Amino acid sequence: MELLRRLRRFDAYPKTLEDFRVKTGAGALVTVVSSLIMLLLFFSELQYYLTKEVHPELYVDTSRGEKLKINIDTIFPHMPCAYLSIDAMDVAGEQQLDVEHNLFKKRLDLVGNVVTPEVEKHVLGKKEEVFNSTRLDPDRCESCYGAESEDMKCCNTCADVREAYRRKGWAFKNADTIEQCMREGFTQKLQEQKNEGCQVYGFLEVNKVAGNFHFAPGKSFQQSHVHVHAVEIHDLQTFGLDNINMTHYIKRLSFGSDYPGIINPLDGSNITAQQASMMFQYFVKIVPTIYVKLDGEVVRTNQFSVTRHEKVANGLIGDQGLPGVFVLYELSPMMVKFTEKHRSFTHFLTGVCAIIGGVFTVASLIDSLIYHSARAIQKKIELGKAV
Ligand SMILES: *[C@@H]1O[C@H](CO)[C@@H](O)[C@H](O)[C@H]1NC(C)=O
Repeated sequence: MELLRRLRRFDAYPKTLEDFRVKTGAGALVTVVSSLIMLLLFFSELQYYLTKEVHPELYVDTSRGEKLKINIDTIFPHMPCAYLSIDAMDVAGEQQLDVEHNLFKKRLDLVGNVVTPEVEKHVLGKKEEVFNSTRLDPDRCESCYGAESEDMKCCNTCADVREAYRRKGWAFKNADTIEQCMREGFTQKLQEQKNEGCQVYGFLEVNKVAGNFHFAPGKSFQQSHVHVHAVEIHDLQTFGLDNINMTHYIKRLSFGSDYPGIINPLDGSNITAQQASMMFQYFVKIVPTIYVKLDGEVVRTNQFSVTRHEKVANGLIGDQGLPGVFVLYELSPMMVKFTEKHRSFTHFLTGVCAIIGGVFTVASLIDSLIYHSARAIQKKIELGKAV
């Protein structure tokens, strides 16, 4: 008993007697309003607590030997598929003919509808023209028109002739004079497609080093180890494509898979070529990114930033550029890691206590202010009456 009495001295909350308490209407109003505010603040705090926290960290990227997956979906409304070629190269200056890729071309008509339901699988830097050779001798050896080389002695298809020319570094002109091509209706194919557009979609898997890939009209070939695109303007003119319109719509361009909240800055961009034979260059800086989800799933991907440069290129070799869309990418040495986390429960509790205590204190201040000023005014009135 004695102990209890002593302990009482430590009570930080001494109580006043009920009898001395007055309940007022204003007090009730303040209580209701402050309770509403408390509830509102509590729910906003709860909502915040239930969201995930994403914690960013910066590292130097030490991972090696990984592959870079480039997802592409681009529409060229004025570039026939037959003339559009896609190539990828990396820092070593080598054409990545051996990279794993899965790119498809879809023919589109003037208004953007699909012309044929079948899609053409595109082989980088090389085009397969499957020829139905039922009547021809399978062991034949046809001329390469002077472009024969050690490992390419026969050119049995138009694609072979073009490949031989490409290896020699010659421009491929006048398809009409080459028998193989005549046969395959190469010219006819171009003629047929001249007013069409092309959608290119799929992915490329390249080495994780700086490099570039491009979409350009004409076939590419190598000239003294420099990769150039042969755009035979005269050639194009004969097919009625004298205006190389590189207008393009990028539906999607990303480097790796998506994570929640990723921003791919080029998605949905529509770029109109104001002039003929425009060269568009995209300088891309790739930032390797790791995203760790709450359930432990790890997404290894990349973010990127981009700047665009455009100019008119007349397409002559040795000139400042070639018409087409070029994407030049570079990898950042820094890597970002995002980790999803639950918000701290103790922080939530602290927040809730702060809300309750804070609102309660402020409300009692207001209440006593109202109560005392009301009393003061009342006294003044009574005084006035008395005089
Ligand atoms: C290319 O086509 C677009 C329409 O898709 C047009 O606005 C633009 O003027 C054309 N450019 C040239 C050089 O013809």
